[in-house]
Amino acid sequence: MQTSLNGKYTLVTGASRGIGRSIAKEFARAGARVALHYHQNKNAALNLQNEIGDEHPLVQADLSDSKAIEKGVNDLAQVFPRIDVLVNNAGVFWEKEINQHSYKDWQQKWNQTIQTNLMGPVNLTFLISALMKKQGGGKIINVTSRGAFRGEPKAPDYGASKAALNSFSQSMALALAKDNIFVYAVAPGWVETDMAKSLLDSDQAQSIISQSPLDRIASPEEIARTILFLAADQTEYLTGCIIDINGASYLRS
Ligand SMILES: NC(=O)c1ccc[n+]([C@@H]2O[C@H](COP(=O)([O-])OP(=O)(O)OC[C@H]3O[C@@H](n4cnc5c(N)ncnc54)[C@H](OP(=O)(O)O)[C@@H]3O)[C@@H](O)[C@H]2O)c1
Repeated sequence: MQTSLNGKYTLVTGASRGIGRSIAKEFARAGARVALHYHQNKNAALNLQNEIGDEHPLVQADLSDSKAIEKGVNDLAQVFPRIDVLVNNAGVFWEKEINQHSYKDWQQKWNQTIQTNLMGPVNLTFLISALMKKQGGGKIINVTSRGAFRGEPKAPDYGASKAALNSFSQSMALALAKDNIFVYAVAPGWVETDMAKSLLDSDQAQSIISQSPLDRIASPEEIARTILFLAADQTEYLTGCIIDINGASYLRS
């Protein structure tokens, strides 16, 4: 039986590229209306809209900016009557080792990562859970990372942002259950997208690939299909879960 999101109104952040783009395509194929959020790549978002249909509106917002988020949610409320599923997918990753750069640079990168990867989902959850509560419920799915669990020595801001997002997801699963709002996290290992490209093009590629006994990294579609499963009906009791999607590259206890 095919997973159905017929009649559901959804918002996918970072739908212009990578995992978000695959999620949007899976959701549209399953019958959902998908708000395609982008930050800087309007052309990429427009290409996706051309591919899946203009019943899927574009929404622009810099998720590191709380005012821009509020405007994006207000813009969306003009075209969508409700939001049944929010996928907090957009994120940033860069390598910035401690004591390898200036203190000013360290501050700036930490700030940008935490604002985008953590405060973006936190603020969207604040605004959209209020709408979901009024409409009788909804689902929120946060894309975190394997990096939340195993430490990221070269990207400590990224690991910390994703660990905090896991914790936030679990807190919200508890806080919002009474409003019929279900909150999940998925934690991928390496996925074949722009985010991983520079490392996969480097001499580190083979060591990254061989982290999994499957001897490959994930495709964006594999992450998207798990998120589609969570977005559909009858997964409510999974609320509060963190689903590992890392090809057994990191088996946490
Ligand atoms: N790829 C991996 O190996 C991997 C592994 C584990 C977890 N993840 C997580 O999966 C999610 C998607 O990653 P990806 O690999 O698909 O990344 P990607 O290909 O680099 O795409 C990133 C997306 O995030 C958006 N974005 C970046 N900064 C933003 C900002 N300030 N405000 C709003 N949107 C912003 C981008 O929008 P524009 O293009 O429009 O600017 C783009 O759509 C992220 O949360 C990432 O941490 C990825």
